[in-house]
Amino acid sequence: MKYLTIIILCMCSWSAQASEAVITGLQDSYRNEGATAFSSSRGQSMWTQTFTQKKTGQQVNCASCHTTTLTTSGSHIKTGKVIAPMAVSSSPDRFNDPVKIEKWFLRNCKWTMNRTCTAQEKGDFLAYFQSQ
Ligand code: HEC
Repeated sequence: MKYLTIIILCMCSWSAQASEAVITGLQDSYRNEGATAFSSSRGQSMWTQTFTQKKTGQQVNCASCHTTTLTTSGSHIKTGKVIAPMAVSSSPDRFNDPVKIEKWFLRNCKWTMNRTCTAQEKGDFLAYFQSQ
């Protein structure tokens, strides 16, 4: 009985651990690309930094779709599609695929900031998602 409880507890925390491991792995590779220590507060201020979209002239930031409260769902600014929370604590299964994370960083940084994000910026964003 005791062992069964331990097994069930392990299974429940497994997905969150998988996210933590994937994030740590990505941050290691960002450090190899020249990034230094990561900061959740830097990630947070970048999250709401506003840029003028080249194509539309619209003022946008990451919160335009993901909101400023990472523990709640967001909504796509154009399609209205619901986007699950970005906080690791609220979406423990989210950050389990490094390829998916990189794909969306590429797409969303370009969409929002008119450029790709640096390794430092991506690591800071991940630190912010982890801190919430
Ligand atoms: C135009 C709307 C929009 C904006 C603006 C936006 N995102 Fe996203 N983002 C999405 C959608 C849609 C997804 C994919 C849906 C999902 O994963 O739930 C996503 C997914 C992601 C993911 C992937 C997470 C995972 O599950 O692997 C990351 C990381 C991300 N966004 C970061 C950012 C950052 C950083 C910014 C600002 C530079 C940003 N997003 C701005 C719409 C947006």
